[in-house]
Amino acid sequence: MIFNGSPKAGGNTDFLIDRFTTFLGERDVVKFVLREMNISPCRGCEMCSISGRCVIKDDMYDIYKKIENCKSFLFFSPIFFGGVTSTLKSVIDRCQPFWARKNILGKKFENNNRRGLIALIGATSFLKGYECAALTVKWLFNVIDVAENRTLYYMNIERHSDFLNYNIDNDIYKTIEFFGESEE
Ligand SMILES: Cc1cc2nc3c(=O)[nH]c(=O)nc-3n(C[C@H](O)[C@H](O)[C@H](O)COP(=O)(O)O)c2cc1C
Repeated sequence: MIFNGSPKAGGNTDFLIDRFTTFLGERDVVKFVLREMNISPCRGCEMCSISGRCVIKDDMYDIYKKIENCKSFLFFSPIFFGGVTSTLKSVIDRCQPFWARKNILGKKFENNNRRGLIALIGATSFLKGYECAALTVKWLFNVIDVAENRTLYYMNIERHSDFLNYNIDNDIYKTIEFFGESEE
């Protein structure tokens, strides 16, 4: 599962994801461009603590179904004010039913050999902003039983050419290797 948390079409996050998906090619990849989906923020109604389901019927239901069965999770987000974008944060907050199922209703995921990647893109080199965003996604990983994860920080990225300061091909290679290990 690939999550694109950027609200900007054709921006730096799209560029990076295109590089990754070109390599991933034939694999069974499903990409969620969150800005194109209708996903409301969590209302905090706590109905999921009773039913294990969200009362808001929107595109998040496509994501819920996939999260249940998926083994590999790739999250891409620009840094906005020292965190992930509100586009992605809404999706993370809407995963509260998984928290409720696990911690209140006592249900476990069948597949617990899961792995995740967090790729964060920002215009500055202010590390704390990246760490804060990474922590938010790791919090979700903890809830959905993604035990192993790796994080990539792409700092000082204002335009596509700034990625030339990074060895993206190597990052992709290492990522594929990392996800491959979980299948052995
Ligand atoms: C509202 C807003 C807030 C931002 N806040 C930060 C920030 O806190 N730290 C940072 O490094 N970059 C920040 N940036 C810069 C973006 O993270 C950066 O330009 C990124 O490459 C944009 O990715 P995109 O083209 O996919 O939207 C911010 C940009 C916007 C529009």
